[in-house]
Amino acid sequence: MLYFVFLSSLTLALWNVQLVITQDIPLADKQIPYDQIPEKVDTDDGPRGIQIGYNRCNSTTEGQSSLCQTAYVNSLDDFCIWGPREPNSTIAEEEGALVAWCTQPGRGTRIIPPNTLQGIQFMRTPDYLQITGRIDQSLINIASNDTGGEEDPHGADGRGNPLGSLVYSNGFASNNGNTNNFQQVIEWHNFLGGNIFCFKICDPAGANAVNFCQHIYDRIGCAYNAPAAYRLGVFEKCLGDNQDFPGVYTGPDGQVSTYFQPPESLGPITSIPYQPRIPASSQCVQFQSEVLYSSADNFFPKPTSTSTSSTATATTSVANPIAIPTSLVNGCTSPAYSLQMFFIIFAIVSGAFLAM
Ligand SMILES: *[C@@H]1O[C@H](CO)[C@@H](O)[C@H](O)[C@H]1NC(C)=O
Ligand SMILES: *[C@@H]1O[C@H](CO)[C@@H](O)[C@H](O)[C@H]1NC(C)=O
Ligand SMILES: *[C@@H]1O[C@H](CO)[C@@H](O)[C@H](O)[C@H]1NC(C)=O
Repeated sequence: MLYFVFLSSLTLALWNVQLVITQDIPLADKQIPYDQIPEKVDTDDGPRGIQIGYNRCNSTTEGQSSLCQTAYVNSLDDFCIWGPREPNSTIAEEEGALVAWCTQPGRGTRIIPPNTLQGIQFMRTPDYLQITGRIDQSLINIASNDTGGEEDPHGADGRGNPLGSLVYSNGFASNNGNTNNFQQVIEWHNFLGGNIFCFKICDPAGANAVNFCQHIYDRIGCAYNAPAAYRLGVFEKCLGDNQDFPGVYTGPDGQVSTYFQPPESLGPITSIPYQPRIPASSQCVQFQSEVLYSSADNFFPKPTSTSTSSTATATTSVANPIAIPTSLVNGCTSPAYSLQMFFIIFAIVSGAFLAM
């Protein structure tokens, strides 16, 4: 009898474990219309714990202690990036628990403080919208020397980074210009670190959303996942061609190849066989940052006096510079020394390239 009870509890225990593992719907499979956002999209518990924040955000949650994990990427002056809850945090340690920091009040999130954004480009392409920029990352709680990593709705356990994160947009072509209609973004990636960031959201109506918003290149940063100009002091919106899928490149002989990053167990990445191509862009329109982000300024009672705002005049840039600053790599969990080694090699290669 005792034996039977023991066996039954063991079976029950195993059954429970099985349930815990299988009941979890991957975050990227959760389709949640904007008017049906639950308090928390991730109600599971697991090795990485529970979702630390919430997805239903409102005026009572708004402010610099908000734990809102619903983000938006709409336009040059209306977007969010993921950032840590507490000052001086690293992305590697906090990747599962980041919260939304946004340019505009009104959606229950934290607000990106004045002087954080030091150069922003909003790129509209046929298949995705992409925000890239230079930032003072310490102002959104990222340790100033952190080389950072990647956020995306996947992760080894499928719960996403941050756990339970949701992203919406009213900016896709498939939305037909209806800015009151927020569509859920199924595939996206946001790299942060090294005082730059890139946030790409793929149009769910596009056939290649999974490829353009690929999440397997977490060690090679914005330069390879979101190649762009990353210009300091320039705030612009552009139309652009699609990039190559991250990892896919065309060699000098015209041969198209796919690069796969090596596993971390093999040590630092010391070379990558290609330089990413920055897609052509057109119709860039530049703005002054004071104009773009004034609603954030108003949110902070005493903005600091040192302004790094752009004074750029309205010009049109047809093509982005080819050279990519060596500081543009933000790799996920790579140790700092591997990135330094990578910078050195990259600098040598870039130097040789420029000398030609
Ligand atoms: C505001 O958001 C919080 C956090 O999600 C939630 O608990 C609360 O019910 C919301 N309030 C309203 C009025 O919706
Ligand atoms: C940030 O954290 C690091 C490591 O914990 C510490 O050495 C450093 O003093 C901290 N910096 C600030 C500005 O708090
Ligand atoms: C950042 O600097 C702090 C000391 O200020 C150090 O403890 C920490 O290891 C550094 N982190 C990285 C990623 O280099």
